[in-house]
Amino acid sequence: MREMFKSDPERFGKFSLKLDDLALDYSKNLIDESAFNALIDLAKAVNVEARRDAMWAGEHINSTEDRAVMHMALRYQGDQPVMVDGKDVMPDVREVLANMRTFASAVRSGDIKGATGQKITDVVNIGIGGSDLGPAMVCNALRPYIDAGITPHFVSNVDGADIADTLAQLQPENTLVLVASKTFTTDETMTNANTARKWLVDALGDDAVKDHFAALSTNLDACADFGIAQDRIFGFWDWVGGRYSVWSAIGLPVMLAIGPDQFDEFLAGAYEMDQHFLSAPLAENMPVIMAVLGVWYRNVWGHATHAVLPYDQRMNRFAAYLQQQDMESNGKSVQLNGEKVTRKTGPIVWGEPGTNGQHAFYQLIHQGTDIIPVDFLVAAQAHDNLPEHHQKLVANCFAQSEALMLGKSADQVMAELKEQGLSTAEIEALTPHKVFEGNRPSNTLIYTKLTPKMLGKLIALYEHKVFVQGAIWNINSFDQWGVELGKQLAKAILPKVKDANASSRHDGSTEGLLAQFHEWQG
Ligand code: F6P
Repeated sequence: MREMFKSDPERFGKFSLKLDDLALDYSKNLIDESAFNALIDLAKAVNVEARRDAMWAGEHINSTEDRAVMHMALRYQGDQPVMVDGKDVMPDVREVLANMRTFASAVRSGDIKGATGQKITDVVNIGIGGSDLGPAMVCNALRPYIDAGITPHFVSNVDGADIADTLAQLQPENTLVLVASKTFTTDETMTNANTARKWLVDALGDDAVKDHFAALSTNLDACADFGIAQDRIFGFWDWVGGRYSVWSAIGLPVMLAIGPDQFDEFLAGAYEMDQHFLSAPLAENMPVIMAVLGVWYRNVWGHATHAVLPYDQRMNRFAAYLQQQDMESNGKSVQLNGEKVTRKTGPIVWGEPGTNGQHAFYQLIHQGTDIIPVDFLVAAQAHDNLPEHHQKLVANCFAQSEALMLGKSADQVMAELKEQGLSTAEIEALTPHKVFEGNRPSNTLIYTKLTPKMLGKLIALYEHKVFVQGAIWNINSFDQWGVELGKQLAKAILPKVKDANASSRHDGSTEGLLAQFHEWQG
């Protein structure tokens, strides 16, 4: 890369792309024009465009579940019908959004109160996976927009510590509980929902459930059976995958926190990215570019992981969110026709905000034996009026990608050590430890400010990137059978956790762990 930058002063211009207030610098990648063109040709050869168009046309591209994949409809701002299975889905999408708006506005203004007449000040979202990670990440990222005295809380883990610690800070009188579950059957969520219900009923009686609970789900009957009032059930549809559902009723905690107008902005940002994805030529298409670079590193260079490092503390759940989006989507080893894949698929996605990561795991990114392609994300403008902090944050972000790319040669190290007055023997001993090979790849996404609109754009960007990679690998990015086996086995083991004498038999290790558990549980 050093050589390529030296020999081509136009490199940044060639390998960067600006979409209004969002820019991608992908010049610090191990590509020249011919590699880049070959990658774009690959996307063309596997018909990424046709597959993208099939998704937007409502075809059942989620073949193993026989479903359309239409999360783009949830943020569609145009006036054309959007057809799924012969029906325009937009009237239903808009109706749910309007109901969410009415409800959220009334809760925010205090027109809708708790059973004892108190204003709702805390919202507890109970959900897991896509019914948790999206809204939790977004509420965190958009904290500067939380403006109506409503604090969102998120409970996901079946570990009682999660709900116990959350409810311990709250009063039932001013708490609204959202039960968020596409299926309304997920064990963790239903267990937590029942615990929250008991907490509320113990304090305020059965009658208060209708005033303090709402549900976000596709399973409307199960919501009603739980005792949730009809006008507090916000539905969505089977063509919305869990990890793509933050734009649907699952976004209600976000709307309650930042308000319906800002939520609209969030949707509008995603819509802008959708329009770009649907219309830009592949070589100028941001999600496509990020996708093919990922495929390049995964399949040609053999790199197993991909780090996402936002220089934004409020994005501290972004990598966790992307882990589900990417790894649940592309963690597959059979092709669409059921045959084994012949090459590697989705990478391990991980990350933490900078600058914290710099003082933890960046050592390995700079000098470890594995190469880790990185995405850096950074805003030009901060929300907080602390310019010195933001300048340092930005300098650190840019310095990291520069360091990864340039590295530091033995000659440079030796010259530095000489200047510091070290002896020849000392210089010889230290030099290998202080050399950075460099030539390590990264993308940098820079944007004006982390507004709701920008966050919508960024999430949609990664959604489409994952889609394109799935298309290239010829896998179904929209099912998740891999999470089923553990769920089934947990059900089978539970009786023996409850009762050591239960009749089920397990493998030797599991039996050993069960015996130890019973000995120690007291
Ligand atoms: O177990 C995986 C999964 O099915 C995810 O795909 C989903 O987001 C999560 O569980 C939660 O499911 P639900 O919204 O139906 O409770």
